[in-house]
Amino acid sequence: MGISDELKPKLFTKGGRDENSLKVNINSTGFGLSFVKDVVEAHKGRVWAESAGPNQGSTFYMELPVNSN
Ligand SMILES: Nc1ncnc2c1ncn2[C@@H]1O[C@H](COP(=O)(O)OP(=O)(O)O)[C@@H](O)[C@H]1O
Ligand SMILES: [Mg+2]
Repeated sequence: MGISDELKPKLFTKGGRDENSLKVNINSTGFGLSFVKDVVEAHKGRVWAESAGPNQGSTFYMELPVNSN
């Protein structure tokens, strides 16, 4: 669905979700990506998303170290 500039800073925060998210997922809580971030960071990785804006698609990235000593 794409990501607005307004949502971008909230995307990976607890409860951060777009006002339109309930239209595509009635179970939307806004906690999914926060949980993803916690797990990825616990593995010394990082996760982020890029989007040119609403209705322009989104690309999500996850980076994990091969050796996290
Ligand atoms: N694949 C996606 N593409 C675009 N926006 C997304 C995507 N996944 C989540 N979002 C946006 O980020 C918000 C937070 O997502 P998430 O933390 O997974 O919560 P939830 O899935 O419960 O809405 C969503 O409400 C939606 O606005
Ligand atoms: Mg989700």
